[in-house]
Amino acid sequence: MSWLFVNLLATSLNIPFLSFLRSAIDGSTFGLSYNGEEIMTEPVAVSLIWFGTGWQEPGKKAVRNAITSLTPSSYNSKHSEVPNLGDWRGVVRQYRESSNAQVSDKVDVGAECFFTGPELNMTLDHVVQISQTVFNKTAIENFSRNLKCNCVFEVHENQIYQILVSHTVKFIYGQKQRQLMDLCSSKFQLHVVAGMIVNKAWVREPQNHDDHFSISFSSSYYVGSPNGDEKIDTLAGNMLVQIAEEVTYRDGRGWISNDGNGLTISSSCFPPFLNAKDGPPLYANEERNISFNAVGLNGNRYIVLHIWNQKIKNCALAPAEICGSDAVVLKHPRGVLKGGRNCCESY
Ligand SMILES: *[C@@H]1O[C@H](CO)[C@@H](O)[C@H](O)[C@H]1NC(C)=O
Ligand SMILES: *[C@@H]1O[C@H](CO)[C@@H](O)[C@H](O)[C@H]1NC(C)=O
Ligand SMILES: *[C@@H]1O[C@H](CO)[C@@H](O)[C@H](O)[C@H]1NC(C)=O
Ligand SMILES: *[C@@H]1O[C@H](CO)[C@@H](O)[C@H](O)[C@H]1NC(C)=O
Repeated sequence: MSWLFVNLLATSLNIPFLSFLRSAIDGSTFGLSYNGEEIMTEPVAVSLIWFGTGWQEPGKKAVRNAITSLTPSSYNSKHSEVPNLGDWRGVVRQYRESSNAQVSDKVDVGAECFFTGPELNMTLDHVVQISQTVFNKTAIENFSRNLKCNCVFEVHENQIYQILVSHTVKFIYGQKQRQLMDLCSSKFQLHVVAGMIVNKAWVREPQNHDDHFSISFSSSYYVGSPNGDEKIDTLAGNMLVQIAEEVTYRDGRGWISNDGNGLTISSSCFPPFLNAKDGPPLYANEERNISFNAVGLNGNRYIVLHIWNQKIKNCALAPAEICGSDAVVLKHPRGVLKGGRNCCESY
Protein backbone atom coordinates (compact mmCIF):
# COMPACT_ATOMS: atom_id res chain seq x y z
CA MET A 1 0.00 0.00 0.00
CA SER A 2 1.43 3.37 -0.82
CA TRP A 3 -0.18 6.25 0.89
CA LEU A 4 0.84 9.15 3.00
CA PHE A 5 -0.92 11.73 5.03
CA VAL A 6 -0.51 15.26 3.83
CA ASN A 7 -1.67 18.50 5.30
CA LEU A 8 -3.52 17.29 8.34
CA LEU A 9 -6.20 19.91 8.61
CA ALA A 10 -6.58 21.47 11.99
CA THR A 11 -10.21 20.59 12.34
CA SER A 12 -9.73 18.76 15.58
CA LEU A 13 -9.52 20.97 18.62
CA ASN A 14 -5.85 21.58 19.06
CA ILE A 15 -5.39 24.53 21.33
CA PRO A 16 -1.62 25.14 21.15
CA PHE A 17 -1.83 25.10 17.38
CA LEU A 18 -4.69 27.56 17.46
CA SER A 19 -2.95 30.09 19.64
CA PHE A 20 -0.05 29.91 17.24
CA LEU A 21 -2.46 30.59 14.37
CA ARG A 22 -3.97 33.55 16.08
CA SER A 23 -0.68 35.32 16.55
CA ALA A 24 0.10 34.60 12.92
CA ILE A 25 -3.05 36.34 11.73
CA ASP A 26 -2.96 39.34 14.04
CA GLY A 27 -0.49 41.13 11.78
CA SER A 28 -2.27 43.32 9.25
CA THR A 29 -0.04 42.15 6.40
CA PHE A 30 -1.50 38.66 6.55
CA GLY A 31 -2.83 37.29 3.27
CA LEU A 32 -2.63 34.32 0.95
CA SER A 33 -0.14 34.22 -1.91
CA TYR A 34 -0.01 32.14 -5.02
CA ASN A 35 2.72 29.54 -5.00
CA GLY A 36 2.35 28.17 -8.49
CA GLU A 37 0.77 25.00 -9.84
CA GLU A 38 -2.71 24.57 -11.15
CA ILE A 39 -5.85 25.28 -9.24
CA MET A 40 -9.21 23.92 -10.38
CA THR A 41 -10.45 26.27 -13.08
CA GLU A 42 -12.63 23.77 -14.97
CA PRO A 43 -16.00 22.42 -13.75
CA VAL A 44 -15.33 20.30 -10.70
CA ALA A 45 -16.83 16.87 -9.97
CA VAL A 46 -16.74 15.58 -6.41
CA SER A 47 -16.72 11.77 -6.39
CA LEU A 48 -17.89 10.19 -3.17
CA ILE A 49 -17.12 6.97 -1.32
CA TRP A 50 -19.62 6.38 1.47
CA PHE A 51 -18.20 4.13 4.21
CA GLY A 52 -20.56 2.37 6.56
CA THR A 53 -24.21 1.48 6.97
CA GLY A 54 -25.25 4.49 9.04
CA TRP A 55 -26.45 6.66 6.17
CA GLN A 56 -30.09 7.68 5.87
CA GLU A 57 -31.57 8.95 2.64
CA PRO A 58 -32.26 12.54 3.86
CA GLY A 59 -28.67 12.79 5.11
CA LYS A 60 -27.22 11.61 1.82
CA LYS A 61 -29.42 14.08 0.00
CA ALA A 62 -28.26 16.93 2.23
CA VAL A 63 -24.63 16.06 1.53
CA ARG A 64 -25.10 15.82 -2.24
CA ASN A 65 -27.17 18.99 -2.18
CA ALA A 66 -24.35 20.82 -0.36
CA ILE A 67 -22.08 20.03 -3.30
CA THR A 68 -24.49 21.09 -6.04
CA SER A 69 -25.38 24.22 -4.04
CA LEU A 70 -21.83 25.50 -4.61
CA THR A 71 -22.64 26.57 -8.18
CA PRO A 72 -23.52 30.29 -7.90
CA SER A 73 -25.62 30.38 -11.09
CA SER A 74 -28.07 27.87 -9.58
CA TYR A 75 -29.63 30.61 -7.47
CA ASN A 76 -32.22 32.82 -9.10
CA SER A 77 -33.43 34.66 -6.02
CA LYS A 78 -32.38 38.23 -5.38
CA HIS A 79 -29.66 39.17 -3.01
CA SER A 80 -30.39 38.08 0.54
CA GLU A 81 -28.54 39.03 3.67
CA VAL A 82 -28.10 35.40 4.48
CA PRO A 83 -25.28 34.11 2.29
CA ASN A 84 -25.99 31.12 0.11
CA LEU A 85 -23.41 28.45 -0.68
CA GLY A 86 -22.92 30.02 -4.12
CA ASP A 87 -21.88 33.27 -2.37
CA TRP A 88 -19.51 31.26 -0.19
CA ARG A 89 -18.11 29.69 -3.32
CA GLY A 90 -17.73 33.26 -4.63
CA VAL A 91 -15.05 33.83 -1.99
CA VAL A 92 -13.25 30.72 -3.23
CA ARG A 93 -13.53 32.01 -6.79
CA GLN A 94 -11.43 35.07 -5.98
CA TYR A 95 -8.39 32.86 -6.29
CA ARG A 96 -6.71 32.63 -9.67
CA GLU A 97 -3.81 30.77 -11.21
CA SER A 98 -0.90 32.24 -13.17
CA SER A 99 -2.92 32.43 -16.41
CA ASN A 100 -5.40 34.58 -14.44
CA ALA A 101 -8.10 31.90 -14.78
CA GLN A 102 -10.20 31.75 -11.64
CA VAL A 103 -11.60 28.80 -9.73
CA SER A 104 -14.47 27.22 -11.66
CA ASP A 105 -18.02 28.34 -10.92
CA LYS A 106 -19.44 24.83 -11.43
CA VAL A 107 -19.39 21.99 -8.94
CA ASP A 108 -21.30 18.74 -9.21
CA VAL A 109 -21.45 15.29 -7.68
CA GLY A 110 -19.38 12.73 -9.61
CA ALA A 111 -19.27 8.94 -9.25
CA GLU A 112 -20.48 7.40 -6.01
CA CYS A 113 -19.48 4.17 -4.28
CA PHE A 114 -20.86 2.57 -1.14
CA PHE A 115 -18.87 0.27 1.13
CA THR A 116 -21.06 -1.61 3.57
CA GLY A 117 -18.62 -4.28 4.71
CA PRO A 118 -17.39 -4.88 8.26
CA GLU A 119 -17.37 -1.62 10.18
CA LEU A 120 -15.66 -2.66 13.40
CA ASN A 121 -11.92 -2.35 13.68
CA MET A 122 -11.52 -0.74 10.29
CA THR A 123 -7.99 0.26 9.45
CA LEU A 124 -6.47 2.90 7.27
CA ASP A 125 -5.29 0.09 4.99
CA HIS A 126 -8.92 -0.95 4.39
CA VAL A 127 -9.78 2.60 3.49
CA VAL A 128 -6.80 2.83 1.16
CA GLN A 129 -7.56 -0.51 -0.52
CA ILE A 130 -11.17 0.43 -1.19
CA SER A 131 -10.11 3.89 -2.35
CA GLN A 132 -7.86 2.25 -4.96
CA THR A 133 -10.41 -0.36 -6.00
CA VAL A 134 -13.00 2.23 -7.02
CA PHE A 135 -10.82 3.25 -9.96
CA ASN A 136 -10.93 -0.23 -11.54
CA LYS A 137 -14.13 -1.82 -12.85
CA THR A 138 -12.81 -5.39 -12.71
CA ALA A 139 -11.53 -4.87 -9.21
CA ILE A 140 -14.87 -3.41 -8.05
CA GLU A 141 -16.73 -6.41 -9.47
CA ASN A 142 -14.29 -8.82 -7.89
CA PHE A 143 -14.08 -6.99 -4.58
CA SER A 144 -17.19 -8.28 -2.85
CA ARG A 145 -20.85 -7.53 -2.66
CA ASN A 146 -19.97 -4.97 -0.01
CA LEU A 147 -18.74 -2.45 -2.54
CA LYS A 148 -21.20 -0.95 -5.00
CA CYS A 149 -20.53 1.91 -7.38
CA ASN A 150 -22.80 3.76 -9.76
CA CYS A 151 -19.75 4.58 -11.93
CA VAL A 152 -16.06 3.77 -11.89
CA PHE A 153 -13.91 6.61 -10.54
CA GLU A 154 -11.84 8.40 -13.16
CA VAL A 155 -8.48 10.06 -12.78
CA HIS A 156 -8.97 13.63 -13.87
CA GLU A 157 -7.44 16.86 -12.71
CA ASN A 158 -10.84 18.41 -12.00
CA GLN A 159 -12.03 15.54 -9.84
CA ILE A 160 -12.13 15.73 -6.09
CA TYR A 161 -12.19 12.35 -4.34
CA GLN A 162 -14.06 12.57 -1.09
CA ILE A 163 -14.35 9.78 1.47
CA LEU A 164 -17.30 10.04 3.83
CA VAL A 165 -17.17 7.91 6.97
CA SER A 166 -20.35 7.07 8.87
CA HIS A 167 -20.50 7.19 12.67
CA THR A 168 -21.01 3.42 12.60
CA VAL A 169 -17.45 2.82 11.37
CA LYS A 170 -14.92 2.30 14.17
CA PHE A 171 -11.18 2.66 13.86
CA ILE A 172 -9.98 1.16 17.10
CA TYR A 173 -6.74 -0.67 16.44
CA GLY A 174 -3.31 0.96 16.56
CA GLN A 175 -1.98 4.46 16.42
CA LYS A 176 -2.47 4.99 12.68
CA GLN A 177 -6.13 4.13 13.15
CA ARG A 178 -6.55 6.37 16.16
CA GLN A 179 -5.39 9.27 14.04
CA LEU A 180 -8.52 8.71 11.99
CA MET A 181 -10.57 9.11 15.14
CA ASP A 182 -8.66 12.07 16.59
CA LEU A 183 -9.18 14.12 13.47
CA CYS A 184 -12.53 14.68 11.87
CA SER A 185 -11.12 15.34 8.43
CA SER A 186 -7.85 15.18 6.60
CA LYS A 187 -6.44 13.97 3.31
CA PHE A 188 -3.94 11.48 2.03
CA GLN A 189 -2.30 10.80 -1.28
CA LEU A 190 -2.80 7.56 -3.10
CA HIS A 191 -1.27 5.76 -6.07
CA VAL A 192 -4.10 4.65 -8.34
CA VAL A 193 -4.04 3.37 -11.93
CA ALA A 194 -0.83 3.61 -13.95
CA GLY A 195 1.19 5.29 -11.25
CA MET A 196 -1.14 8.27 -11.04
CA ILE A 197 -1.28 9.91 -7.62
CA VAL A 198 -4.49 11.50 -6.42
CA ASN A 199 -5.54 13.26 -3.24
CA LYS A 200 -8.21 11.58 -1.19
CA ALA A 201 -9.96 13.87 1.23
CA TRP A 202 -11.81 12.21 4.06
CA VAL A 203 -14.26 13.46 6.60
CA ARG A 204 -16.13 11.51 9.22
CA GLU A 205 -19.30 11.93 11.18
CA PRO A 206 -18.94 12.48 14.93
CA GLN A 207 -19.53 9.22 16.77
CA ASN A 208 -21.44 10.52 19.79
CA HIS A 209 -22.11 13.62 21.85
CA ASP A 210 -18.61 13.69 23.35
CA ASP A 211 -17.17 13.70 19.88
CA HIS A 212 -18.27 17.17 18.94
CA PHE A 213 -15.29 18.31 16.98
CA SER A 214 -17.57 20.67 15.13
CA ILE A 215 -17.19 24.08 16.66
CA SER A 216 -20.23 25.21 14.72
CA PHE A 217 -22.53 23.87 17.38
CA SER A 218 -20.91 25.59 20.34
CA SER A 219 -22.58 28.89 19.55
CA SER A 220 -25.05 30.37 21.99
CA TYR A 221 -27.18 31.07 18.90
CA TYR A 222 -27.50 27.38 18.22
CA VAL A 223 -31.06 26.04 18.43
CA GLY A 224 -30.75 22.91 16.31
CA SER A 225 -28.80 21.59 13.37
CA PRO A 226 -29.64 22.88 9.88
CA ASN A 227 -30.82 19.57 8.45
CA GLY A 228 -31.98 18.04 11.70
CA ASP A 229 -28.96 15.72 12.03
CA GLU A 230 -25.83 17.05 13.74
CA LYS A 231 -23.73 14.21 12.42
CA ILE A 232 -24.64 14.93 8.83
CA ASP A 233 -24.42 18.69 9.29
CA THR A 234 -20.95 18.39 10.83
CA LEU A 235 -19.86 16.20 7.97
CA ALA A 236 -21.34 18.49 5.31
CA GLY A 237 -19.68 21.61 6.77
CA ASN A 238 -16.28 19.95 6.95
CA MET A 239 -16.64 18.47 3.49
CA LEU A 240 -17.38 21.89 1.99
CA VAL A 241 -14.18 23.21 3.55
CA GLN A 242 -12.23 20.35 2.01
CA ILE A 243 -13.66 21.17 -1.40
CA ALA A 244 -12.60 24.81 -0.99
CA GLU A 245 -9.13 23.62 0.01
CA GLU A 246 -8.78 21.19 -2.89
CA VAL A 247 -9.63 23.75 -5.55
CA THR A 248 -7.24 26.42 -4.21
CA TYR A 249 -4.44 24.37 -2.71
CA ARG A 250 -3.40 21.13 -4.30
CA ASP A 251 -0.27 19.04 -4.02
CA GLY A 252 1.05 21.42 -1.44
CA ARG A 253 0.93 24.34 -3.88
CA GLY A 254 -1.62 26.94 -4.86
CA TRP A 255 -2.76 29.58 -2.40
CA ILE A 256 -1.14 29.56 1.03
CA SER A 257 -0.39 32.19 3.63
CA ASN A 258 2.45 34.59 2.98
CA ASP A 259 3.77 34.33 6.54
CA GLY A 260 5.59 31.04 6.07
CA ASN A 261 3.07 29.04 8.11
CA GLY A 262 1.37 27.46 5.12
CA LEU A 263 -2.14 28.40 6.19
CA THR A 264 -4.87 27.85 3.62
CA ILE A 265 -8.15 29.45 2.68
CA SER A 266 -9.81 27.71 5.63
CA SER A 267 -7.08 27.15 8.20
CA SER A 268 -6.45 30.93 8.11
CA CYS A 269 -9.95 31.38 9.51
CA PHE A 270 -10.22 28.64 12.04
CA PRO A 271 -9.37 30.58 15.22
CA PRO A 272 -11.94 33.40 14.94
CA PHE A 273 -14.73 30.93 15.48
CA LEU A 274 -13.24 29.80 18.74
CA ASN A 275 -12.40 33.28 19.88
CA ALA A 276 -15.85 34.67 19.17
CA LYS A 277 -17.42 35.33 22.57
CA ASP A 278 -20.67 33.52 21.91
CA GLY A 279 -19.43 31.09 19.32
CA PRO A 280 -19.99 31.62 15.63
CA PRO A 281 -22.87 33.90 14.71
CA LEU A 282 -25.78 31.92 13.30
CA TYR A 283 -29.24 32.58 11.98
CA ALA A 284 -32.13 30.81 13.59
CA ASN A 285 -35.46 29.60 12.31
CA GLU A 286 -37.50 29.13 15.45
CA GLU A 287 -40.40 27.45 13.72
CA ARG A 288 -38.14 24.67 12.54
CA ASN A 289 -35.68 24.84 15.47
CA ILE A 290 -32.72 25.09 13.17
CA SER A 291 -29.61 27.26 13.10
CA PHE A 292 -27.53 27.97 10.03
CA ASN A 293 -25.28 30.54 8.44
CA ALA A 294 -25.74 29.66 4.79
CA VAL A 295 -28.61 28.73 2.52
CA GLY A 296 -28.36 25.93 -0.04
CA LEU A 297 -30.58 24.81 -2.89
CA ASN A 298 -33.84 22.91 -2.32
CA GLY A 299 -34.52 24.52 1.04
CA ASN A 300 -31.49 23.00 2.74
CA ARG A 301 -29.56 25.08 5.26
CA TYR A 302 -25.97 24.61 6.33
CA ILE A 303 -23.38 25.73 8.84
CA VAL A 304 -20.14 26.45 7.03
CA LEU A 305 -16.84 27.78 8.27
CA HIS A 306 -15.67 31.23 7.38
CA ILE A 307 -12.94 31.25 4.75
CA TRP A 308 -10.26 33.77 3.91
CA ASN A 309 -11.56 36.59 1.74
CA GLN A 310 -8.49 38.08 0.13
CA LYS A 311 -10.25 41.27 -1.02
CA ILE A 312 -11.42 42.44 2.37
CA LYS A 313 -8.58 40.78 4.28
CA ASN A 314 -10.99 39.08 6.62
CA CYS A 315 -12.71 35.80 7.12
CA ALA A 316 -16.07 35.75 5.41
CA LEU A 317 -19.00 33.72 4.17
CA ALA A 318 -19.58 35.85 1.08
CA PRO A 319 -17.46 38.07 -1.18
CA ALA A 320 -19.06 41.40 -0.24
CA GLU A 321 -18.71 41.36 3.51
CA ILE A 322 -17.22 44.54 4.86
CA CYS A 323 -13.78 44.57 6.29
CA GLY A 324 -13.33 45.21 9.98
CA SER A 325 -10.30 47.09 11.22
CA ASP A 326 -9.12 43.96 13.01
CA ALA A 327 -8.70 41.04 10.66
CA VAL A 328 -9.71 38.49 13.28
CA VAL A 329 -13.00 40.11 14.30
CA LEU A 330 -15.88 38.55 12.42
CA LYS A 331 -18.80 40.62 11.41
CA HIS A 332 -22.03 39.18 12.76
CA PRO A 333 -24.87 38.57 10.35
CA ARG A 334 -27.79 40.99 10.56
CA GLY A 335 -30.35 39.55 8.18
CA VAL A 336 -33.96 39.03 9.12
CA LEU A 337 -35.43 35.79 7.94
CA LYS A 338 -38.97 35.14 6.97
CA GLY A 339 -40.47 32.66 9.37
CA GLY A 340 -37.59 32.98 11.75
CA ARG A 341 -35.72 35.42 13.86
CA ASN A 342 -32.35 36.96 13.42
CA CYS A 343 -30.55 35.59 16.41
CA CYS A 344 -28.13 38.51 16.40
CA GLU A 345 -30.74 41.25 16.78
CA SER A 346 -29.25 42.42 20.04
CA TYR A 347 -26.09 43.53 18.23
C1 LIG B 1 -7.82 -3.78 -12.49
O1 LIG B 1 -8.02 -4.84 -11.60
C2 LIG B 1 -7.76 -6.09 -12.15
C3 LIG B 1 -8.23 -7.13 -11.17
O2 LIG B 1 -7.85 -6.85 -9.86
C4 LIG B 1 -6.29 -6.19 -12.49
O3 LIG B 1 -5.98 -7.43 -13.03
C5 LIG B 1 -5.94 -5.07 -13.48
O4 LIG B 1 -4.56 -5.04 -13.72
C6 LIG B 1 -6.39 -3.73 -12.93
N1 LIG B 1 -6.24 -2.73 -13.97
C7 LIG B 1 -5.50 -1.65 -13.81
C8 LIG B 1 -5.50 -0.70 -14.95
O5 LIG B 1 -4.89 -1.42 -12.79
C1 LIG C 1 -10.58 -11.55 -6.99
O1 LIG C 1 -10.62 -11.60 -5.57
C2 LIG C 1 -10.00 -12.74 -5.02
C3 LIG C 1 -10.28 -12.76 -3.53
O2 LIG C 1 -10.34 -11.47 -2.98
C4 LIG C 1 -8.51 -12.70 -5.36
O3 LIG C 1 -7.86 -13.81 -4.82
C5 LIG C 1 -8.34 -12.69 -6.86
O4 LIG C 1 -6.99 -12.54 -7.21
C6 LIG C 1 -9.13 -11.56 -7.48
N1 LIG C 1 -9.11 -11.65 -8.91
C7 LIG C 1 -8.75 -10.65 -9.68
C8 LIG C 1 -8.83 -10.88 -11.16
O5 LIG C 1 -8.38 -9.58 -9.22
C1 LIG D 1 -8.15 -5.28 15.24
O1 LIG D 1 -7.38 -5.76 14.13
C2 LIG D 1 -6.07 -6.09 14.41
C3 LIG D 1 -5.34 -6.51 13.16
O2 LIG D 1 -5.91 -5.99 12.04
C4 LIG D 1 -6.02 -7.20 15.46
O3 LIG D 1 -4.70 -7.53 15.80
C5 LIG D 1 -6.77 -6.74 16.69
O4 LIG D 1 -6.83 -7.78 17.64
C6 LIG D 1 -8.19 -6.31 16.33
N1 LIG D 1 -8.85 -5.78 17.50
C7 LIG D 1 -10.10 -6.06 17.80
C8 LIG D 1 -10.62 -5.47 19.05
O5 LIG D 1 -10.80 -6.74 17.09
C1 LIG E 1 -38.75 23.56 18.98
O1 LIG E 1 -38.20 23.48 20.28
C2 LIG E 1 -39.14 23.77 21.30
C3 LIG E 1 -38.42 23.85 22.62
O2 LIG E 1 -37.55 22.76 22.78
C4 LIG E 1 -40.27 22.73 21.26
O3 LIG E 1 -41.20 23.00 22.24
C5 LIG E 1 -40.90 22.73 19.86
O4 LIG E 1 -41.85 21.70 19.78
C6 LIG E 1 -39.86 22.56 18.79
N1 LIG E 1 -40.46 22.72 17.47
C7 LIG E 1 -40.24 21.88 16.46
C8 LIG E 1 -40.87 22.21 15.14
O5 LIG E 1 -39.50 20.90 16.55
